[in-house]
Amino acid sequence: MTADAVPPTSLPERPIPMTTAPAADAYLADGYGRVVGMSSRFAAGVCGRLLALQNEFGVTGHFAEIGAFEGRFLIAMAHCLAPGEKALGMDIFEWPNPEVLQRFEANCRRHGLGPDRVIPWKIDSGTTTASAVLAKLDSGPIRMFHVDGEHSRSALAKDLELATEATSEGGLIVLDDMLHPGYPTLMVTVQTYLERHPEMTVLCIIDRETIVAATKFVLCRKDWFKRYEDRMLEVFKPWIWPLGADFEPHWCLVLSLDTELAAII
Ligand SMILES: C[S@@+](CC[C@H](N)C(=O)[O-])C[C@H]1O[C@@H](n2cnc3c(N)ncnc32)[C@H](O)[C@@H]1O
Repeated sequence: MTADAVPPTSLPERPIPMTTAPAADAYLADGYGRVVGMSSRFAAGVCGRLLALQNEFGVTGHFAEIGAFEGRFLIAMAHCLAPGEKALGMDIFEWPNPEVLQRFEANCRRHGLGPDRVIPWKIDSGTTTASAVLAKLDSGPIRMFHVDGEHSRSALAKDLELATEATSEGGLIVLDDMLHPGYPTLMVTVQTYLERHPEMTVLCIIDRETIVAATKFVLCRKDWFKRYEDRMLEVFKPWIWPLGADFEPHWCLVLSLDTELAAII
């Protein structure tokens, strides 16, 4: 440590939302951190609870992910699904080496998820279509689509179109690594997408845990926004940052482990 660096303070582990699915909560408490990956545990708790809200609303269907990697986030979501619903893990499965596919499958098995519940698919998302994705899932529907693949503007634009076409009316699209210092231009792609898709809106921002476990945006169809937000104000109360996010003119919730405001007087 250099002379001008301040010694680190250890922050107490802060509680994350419970998903209401016991197997998912057990995995998040002891397991998530041991599966190599990047998605935040806080975001997984929030998204798992959003799947439970979908159960309340009667929104059923599968989970799909572009960029499944070793399965960290997908395993949590798969444990929140109802019987018969499946998790589709799409990835090129070549990075950092081709054995990543075996590690994905082994991690799923270790956490109680067999081929009846998880479908790995070795695919470049830029080369496929929504109907091909749905065909992997007995024609869908998909109720949550996590986009966490290639972080270029053109790849995100394509993945967003794919997810929008594949996700059902009441479904949610979750975008990883938003507002990340390493990918500052991805937000431009999201803004362009929102302008092209006036039927879509940002439901909430899930604040980052660390620079790796980065911020996610959750998108929904505009006519579902109020229904989700009303319940989210109740179930996520301890994690709501009071000022919210201004998408000019749309406002949405910011969920954070740190809900402090600046002290101004
Ligand atoms: C940041 S990692 C994903 C982390 C994972 N979602 C988690 O929660 O731990 C990004 C993944 O996207 C995959 N990827 C990159 N480009 C892709 C593409 N065009 N199609 C499918 N997957 C891609 C990479 O192989 C890598 O495994």
